[in-house]
Amino acid sequence: MILVTGGAGFIGSNFVLDWLARSDEPVVNLDALTYAGNLENLAGIEGDPRHLFRHGDIGDAALLGGLLAEFRPRAVLHFAAESHVDRSILGPGDFVRTNVTGTFTLLQAAQGYWSGLDRAAQQAFRFLHVSTDEVYGSLGPDDASFSETTPYQPNSPYSASKAASDHFVRAWHHTYGLPTLTTNCSNNYGPFQFPEKLIPLVIANALAGKPLPIYGDGLNIRDWLYVGDHCDAIRQVLERGRVGETYNIGGWNEQTNLSVVRLICSILDGLHPASPVVPHEQLISFVKDRPGHDRRYAIDARKIERELGWRPAETFETGIRKTVAWYLDNQAWVGRVQSGGYRDWISRQYGGLNGQASP
Ligand code: NAD
Ligand code: TYD
Repeated sequence: MILVTGGAGFIGSNFVLDWLARSDEPVVNLDALTYAGNLENLAGIEGDPRHLFRHGDIGDAALLGGLLAEFRPRAVLHFAAESHVDRSILGPGDFVRTNVTGTFTLLQAAQGYWSGLDRAAQQAFRFLHVSTDEVYGSLGPDDASFSETTPYQPNSPYSASKAASDHFVRAWHHTYGLPTLTTNCSNNYGPFQFPEKLIPLVIANALAGKPLPIYGDGLNIRDWLYVGDHCDAIRQVLERGRVGETYNIGGWNEQTNLSVVRLICSILDGLHPASPVVPHEQLISFVKDRPGHDRRYAIDARKIERELGWRPAETFETGIRKTVAWYLDNQAWVGRVQSGGYRDWISRQYGGLNGQASP
């Protein structure tokens, strides 16, 4: 049994679905169902006895202690976080509460549980912390990509809170011996991503004939990785990663925001040639830049390839086509997220979520 935090969010729900598609090992899924948590993402495993959903906050030490004692997981996979940079600029407090204090509380609970295990179970246990490349800061055009030894230089409240959480994880390994693993991944895209992030926002707006907002000059660079590849990398790090190590995960795919948006537009032009907004590029609208906007992220993912043999399976071309197709096929999901109707769906399906629910 494994314990996943944040398994109703974008990457966490993809991970839980992938995990149960590949193994019969049960998953306890602890999620606070913030605005970003959507149980509808997990509708495909509704009623599956291998999935045990628990509604709650990683900052609740008593809840964590109870869950760990009840389920005795062999691993904790920590996805739960506040994850959107723009929200962190407007309201950093939630980022400190969940990403910093919440991670600390989870580490304390995991450490307490782990120290009570027998020696063999202690050796087998893993605490895998899912983090981001944004902790390394911003690169110039000719700078070397981020490696695992690049100094941390977080620039946004989001990346500062993730950097803090990474440091706590490191300290819990060095000080208390907790068998930790940390992954720092680049920008993900794929099914179930909340349409506040660039790629799902652009697909949804283009389909609705609305403006496609591009911050600043659109020449900021991100490395993009298909979410299924990220989930695969996390599974490999969990099973074979060296305890106490960090692994950078990336797609070997640097793109300017403008080229990402143009590619999505051209795919939609091909799929909807009769749309009144063809070419979709006419919807591009340059808007005010994000404060402190990091210019470039790039990941050197040679360590995970060398040690674990992992490389992304999708190219950006294949991954983005799958993603556009998913959003086209799931416009009702997007509509319910945009209208807030997904919250009603959750309460209709699962009634009062106070305490516990098990879809
Ligand atoms: P998300 O915002 O889509 O999902 C976060 C999930 O965590 C939601 O289900 C939310 O309800 C839950 N959550 C939030 N606060 C909680 C709390 N206090 N207690 C319990 N649950 C809580 O995020 P995501 O994009 O799926 O990211 C998952 C993890 O991966 C995060 O740690 C993020 O920093 C990291 N990451 C994301 C990306 C990316 O491109 N999205 C890239 C690299 C790393
Ligand atoms: P985002 O998806 O928010 O991820 P992150 O900020 O974590 O990298 O943004 C990706 C890039 O796209 C980033 O450079 C900001 C830019 N962006 C826009 O230009 N317009 C938008 O509407 C959004 C949400 C992001």
